[in-house]
Amino acid sequence: MNGGEGSAGGPPDFDISVAHSARVHDYWLGGKDNYAADRAAGDAVIAAYPGIVRSVRANRAFLARVVRFLAIEAGITQFLDIGTGIPAAGNTHEVAQAAVPGCRVVYVDYDPVVLAHARALLDSSADGAIGYIDADLRDPEMILEQAAQTLDFSRPVAVMLIAILHLIVDQDDPYGIVSRLMAAVPAGSYLALSQVASDIEPEQMAEAAKRYNRLAHETQRHRSHAEVTRFFDGLELIEPGVVPVQEWRPGSEIEARARSAMWGGAGRKR
Ligand SMILES: C[S@@+](CC[C@H](N)C(=O)[O-])C[C@H]1O[C@@H](n2cnc3c(N)ncnc32)[C@H](O)[C@@H]1O
Repeated sequence: MNGGEGSAGGPPDFDISVAHSARVHDYWLGGKDNYAADRAAGDAVIAAYPGIVRSVRANRAFLARVVRFLAIEAGITQFLDIGTGIPAAGNTHEVAQAAVPGCRVVYVDYDPVVLAHARALLDSSADGAIGYIDADLRDPEMILEQAAQTLDFSRPVAVMLIAILHLIVDQDDPYGIVSRLMAAVPAGSYLALSQVASDIEPEQMAEAAKRYNRLAHETQRHRSHAEVTRFFDGLELIEPGVVPVQEWRPGSEIEARARSAMWGGAGRKR
């Protein structure tokens, strides 16, 4: 529930009677990998916050821009993308390897439906490499251990937490999880994240969280600008800081004019 209450569920089983975030997100993005329960939860959120569809699209555009920035401007060639989701247009490895063919990407998700799509995600460029880990963000050590089979942790890595932290409730220590991940990567590494806001369209977003939490496997915890900025404590926040995702280095006027209720940003480990 919004406000940090509510229990944190374990990894979802393949149960189509309860909405799962990966499938609800797929529904909002116009995908086909969702069931009646996912569509009901998705529609309940749309009724409370009609802007959700453009918000998730703006978030996908942010994902692509931040990956391009990391590969081209920051020189990052290794990506640890946690909370991958069901494949959609512009997955991390496609964007990264289109920019720099040798990029290595490890995807992590705990949803069996995403796992079923792993084959599509594992289609790497010849020069690069892709791994897929079926793991829970709340166990970062297990993720890091397995990711080391594909990524070289003596070289900079971009840790990507795109639209996942609002699914980690306060009891599960989201700030501790982010610190443990960033402690494992060397100086010059990056954290890129986006998270659903509690302080953009606050009334609609509070109602949307309430409705979602009644129907779904995961509990949403929306966070304020200050709470999202805290994830970057100890890192050098890259310009323009933590902003609505569409305002993070937009590639065009049209991108900049999109609307969302998500904060996004990137920071560099010194
Ligand atoms: C809203 S989707 C975001 C997908 C993609 N990153 C994007 O921004 O388009 C969130 C994803 O995080 C995954 N997820 C949620 N909680 C998780 C956890 N504790 N561990 C691993 N994956 C998790 C869900 O299964 C889902 O695929």
